[in-house]
Amino acid sequence: TVTTFAQPSRPAFDLQGHRGCRGLMPENTIPAFLKALDLGVSTLELDVVISKDGQVVVSHEPYFNADFSIRPDGRPVDKKEQKNLVLYQMTYADIKRYDVGSNGNPKYPKQQRVKTYKPLLSEVIEQVEMYRNAKNLPIVSYNIEIKSDASEYNKSQPEPAVFCDLVQAVLKQHLPTERVVIQSFDFAPLKHWKLQANAGKYPSVRLAALVENLRSPEKNLDELGFKPDIYSPYYRLLSQNKVKRLQEQSIKVIPWTVNQRNDMSRLKKWGVDGIITDYPDRASGL
Ligand code: G3P
Ligand code: CA
Repeated sequence: TVTTFAQPSRPAFDLQGHRGCRGLMPENTIPAFLKALDLGVSTLELDVVISKDGQVVVSHEPYFNADFSIRPDGRPVDKKEQKNLVLYQMTYADIKRYDVGSNGNPKYPKQQRVKTYKPLLSEVIEQVEMYRNAKNLPIVSYNIEIKSDASEYNKSQPEPAVFCDLVQAVLKQHLPTERVVIQSFDFAPLKHWKLQANAGKYPSVRLAALVENLRSPEKNLDELGFKPDIYSPYYRLLSQNKVKRLQEQSIKVIPWTVNQRNDMSRLKKWGVDGIITDYPDRASGL
């Protein structure tokens, strides 16, 4: 006899911790992801870039942000030098020597100060799963943003195909497909992922189109060229009518980055499928 264990289904409303829980812990770090688990998120949102030695590193910027990064010699990174501290041009061993938590972040005054570093994607998954199992917490998904947008810092980033190859290799080793979302503002990696998944070469994870422009959802979907599982706009760009139009096509709508309780309530009333927030603690009992 074969015994099968049903995976718990995903909750109806997907509460996603943005960069873990940036409002409360240093963004995109292991302490932030563990705290987000304690706060009951159903998905961990995070960003990835690639180091010079091909490692998938969890980081929003492809450089050391002067707002909160400290050099290995203890001196804070200054605005001028952050341009020279490009993660795509550093090995992960070098990247790991920088502290990105002890000084806090002036934009998020409630953030706890903790000495910590930019982790690898594989390490985040390992630590989260260990913590979750030890505390018997519910299963979570991972919403992984491929940060491959064009910018002055990204000149040395790998092509979308190489970027995606590296990410999917980590995922294949560590997570079942149903617990993964790949998101990007850059449609090139999303298109690449879709093609590879259709060909059976990549895991068939959910794909999310991130949007920050004033074009209609229809126009953005047209540009993407296929129906994504999720449409994720900046929350102020959304209307109840857009939510309806997207959901009529069986596309889930999950806006970012919703930090005020009144906005959370309004969006929930409009019927969004989830929200991405820096403050999962503010979403309780929505
Ligand atoms: O997941 C959506 C959100 O994270 C996009 O904005 O700039 O915080 O990555 P950003
Ligand atoms: Ca993001």
